[in-house]
Order: sequence, then C-alpha cells, then structure tokens
Amino acid sequence: MNFEPKILGFLCNWCSYAGADLAGVSRIQYPPNIRVIRVMCSGRVDPEFIIQGFQTGIDGIIVMGCHPGDCHYLEGNYEAEMKYKMVQKFLKFINFDNRVRLEWVSASEGNRFAEIVTDFTRQIKEQGPSPVGGKSPDSMLLDKLNAILLAIGSYRMRALVGRERIITEFENVYGEKVPLEKFDDIFDTAIRDEYLRHQILISLSNDPKSVKDLAIELETDPSVILKNILVLKNRSQVNMEKIVGVTPIYTNIMEG
Ligand code: FES
Repeated sequence: MNFEPKILGFLCNWCSYAGADLAGVSRIQYPPNIRVIRVMCSGRVDPEFIIQGFQTGIDGIIVMGCHPGDCHYLEGNYEAEMKYKMVQKFLKFINFDNRVRLEWVSASEGNRFAEIVTDFTRQIKEQGPSPVGGKSPDSMLLDKLNAILLAIGSYRMRALVGRERIITEFENVYGEKVPLEKFDDIFDTAIRDEYLRHQILISLSNDPKSVKDLAIELETDPSVILKNILVLKNRSQVNMEKIVGVTPIYTNIMEG
C-alpha cells in the first residue's frame, strides 16, 4: 500500500514559518504531506492541540520554533520544550511518541526546514497509518487519547509544566531548590497517576464497575486501581453507586 501520511506542522510566525517560506521561494523540494498552522510562538502550542490532532486521525505532528535564545517572546520555546517533554511521555503509553517531534528552524534555514520535513515524513511512513485514522478507528485507542487529553488539561499537570523552571532553577522562600532528577521523578509519577485516573473516569462514565472489573479492563493491579479510586472519591469525581454481594460498584459522578 502506498501510504501518504497526513502531517500537521505548528510553525512559529517569526522563525520557522519564515524558514518554510524561504524553502518555498527557493524552490527547495520537500514532501507535500505537511499542512501548516502558523502560531505566533512555539510556546503557544497547547499540548491539547497535539492530542486533538491525533484524535482526528492525523498521522504525525511536528512543532517548530526559533532556536533557543532567539524566541521573540524570550522564553516561549523553553515553554514549548517542557510541554513537548510532557506530551511525549503521555504518548509513550500508546506508542505514539515517535509520531511527534519538536525542532528549531530559523528564518534563514529553508534547507533545514526541507530536510526536517523530509526526514519526519520518512519517520511517519515507517510508523504506518494512525490506528485512529481511516473509516474504522480503534475505539479503545480513542478512549486512551481522550484520557491523555483530560490528564494533560488537569490542574496538576499544568501546574507542574508551568513551574518546572522556577522549581528546579530557583530557590524557594526557604532557600530550597528541587534537583532536576527529583522533579523528573515527581513529574513521571504525576503523568502515570493522572493518565490512569482519567482512564478510570472514562471507563466509569461508560458504565459503573467494580475495582476488579477496572483492573481487568485497564490491565492494572487491583490495589493500584483502588488507591486511585480513593483519590478520585476524595476529589468528588467518583462515588460508590451500590454494593453487589460484598463488592462495591463505582460510578463517575462528573458525567451526571
Ligand atoms: S517566537 Fe518563535 S519560538 Fe517563540
């Protein structure tokens, strides 16, 4: 099958879009698979845009911005880097991490733009068509993408991403600075927890279930499911609907 991937590119207005423009006016050849969305800065690319792109069946997504130190809004590309790091970790759960890329391209790098697009198109061709694209998308994978979308938008994840540099580079009022390795551990734990919690919420919004049912469906140890159900109960997102025999059945109360 001759697979031509659908690739979405978010290009910052000041560098990468101008680089793409230069590639065009210089008649440099590159694959026509990319569709470009111009944003003012790579830092403007909300991680939710990337997940929503995949939900519509896009095969690969690339974000391009100014080189470090050249961002027209000073630190937008550092923010883009942190958001990208989080998105990649979430996408690893569903083997989509090789379908995203972040690159720096300046206004004078038309050749570099074309080389990156060529290489990324090759990479996505190797990955094959997205399992959620086409006429019969994988519904389980769509549920997982939805769990990622909700987890990424959660207050906990936004707070961690938004404060990574402040937490790891500057001392707090007590003169403490969190080492990057320790922050990464906290970050990884939060990603795992929030992904599982939102998978639980999505599953319970389809129909109420016991811890055992959830454990089988999500292929996770029942003790881990129970621990997270208790957190969701404390957050008033889950409630015990009834008891069947001696088994509590939980439901998502956020869905009404
Ligand atoms: S303006 Fe280009 S990355 Fe911020």
